[in-house]
Amino acid sequence: MAGGPWPAKAIVARVCVSRRWDPRMKPAAGDAERLICLCRTGFETECALESSALAATTGIDGQPHFESGSGYTEFAPAAPPPSAAWRQLADWRNHIFARECLTAFAVLDGLPRGDRLTPILRALAERGEPYADVWVEAPDSDDGKALAPFCRSFGNALVGGLKKSALLRAGAPRRLHAFFPQGDKVYLAAVEPATATPWPQGIPRLKFPRNAPSRSTLKLDEALLVLLDDDERRRGLKAGMSAVDLGAAPGGWTWQFVQRSIRVTAVDNGPMDPALLQSGLVAHRREDAFRFRPGKPVDWMVCDMVEQPRRVAELVARWLAQGWCRRTIFNLKLPMKKRYEETQLCLDLIRAQAAKHSGATLTLRARQLYHDREEITAYCAVSG
Ligand SMILES: C[S@@+](CC[C@H](N)C(=O)[O-])C[C@H]1O[C@@H](n2cnc3c(N)ncnc32)[C@H](O)[C@@H]1O
Repeated sequence: MAGGPWPAKAIVARVCVSRRWDPRMKPAAGDAERLICLCRTGFETECALESSALAATTGIDGQPHFESGSGYTEFAPAAPPPSAAWRQLADWRNHIFARECLTAFAVLDGLPRGDRLTPILRALAERGEPYADVWVEAPDSDDGKALAPFCRSFGNALVGGLKKSALLRAGAPRRLHAFFPQGDKVYLAAVEPATATPWPQGIPRLKFPRNAPSRSTLKLDEALLVLLDDDERRRGLKAGMSAVDLGAAPGGWTWQFVQRSIRVTAVDNGPMDPALLQSGLVAHRREDAFRFRPGKPVDWMVCDMVEQPRRVAELVARWLAQGWCRRTIFNLKLPMKKRYEETQLCLDLIRAQAAKHSGATLTLRARQLYHDREEITAYCAVSG
């Protein structure tokens, strides 16, 4: 982590703790929390660019730091930020490339391998905040995966230590996160569950359904779970609804709709899974997805074509602007260098084009899902 002011400060007794646990107390300058964002390895640049851009829009000045391939980034505010802006920046739902956002109040470096617990408990006791729960996490990198067994056992030890210190309390407003980017370093963070991802590392653990025709099915499964709220899922995924799947073969995305008794027009020149076709809910159209027009408006259009992201964005915008669908989930492949810029460009294009859909309110959310590779997935809906 090149040149960050925080690790340097932490060399003093190897511990740097912000005493800001009472939200009414103003923290001393230079003692501000840091934002830690967990992301897919190789996407640290995009994650850091995004944190900086979001910080700028909320009026927070600061510096991002990261190491390529580490699976996380750090954003250090130049001064303790206003709490409303900080909460907005730390809300994982406002990020595309961050799977989880942690507001870290301390970093402990050079932890002794023989006893990592004592210095951590000392720092927590000094701070004095009680927590409702504890998560011990590592990045989703090769180094981080090697730490998984340690994280599991250390979690039990930390819970035991917090109980003894009376710092684990049901009903406490925040959850403690101990994030180990490496075995001898930990970030301690406190998060409010309501604005934090409900999955450790921001990764929903989904099981591949045995009879689904492709692993891509997990991408749409995750998108429906992560990009929609409970109400949107209940109202938007009803038996008897209709969908168009552009670039559908062999049918992993179509399968998700068929499971929910939603009729699908699957557009692809490639072959569809025969079992799906036998379901009676799927019509296969061997056509070019860019020329295809639905006979009448449908509830959903989904698209997982390996295509230039701008072409896909234009296609999505056309479907929304023409009123051919009310909701869409689509994948934007990002094989280019300027992936963050391309993402913004595509989403802006959709916002601008779909605004032409007179009187409509647009919801647009995008994320790099766990099951996404060099790509992101987005949900867009018009209402009104
Ligand atoms: C990544 S695969 C889709 C996988 C699918 N979502 C699943 O879950 O099984 C991309 C598909 O897009 C199709 N495709 C690419 N360009 C297309 C086009 N212009 N029109 C129709 N299909 C297209 C390809 O034939 C391929 O089957």
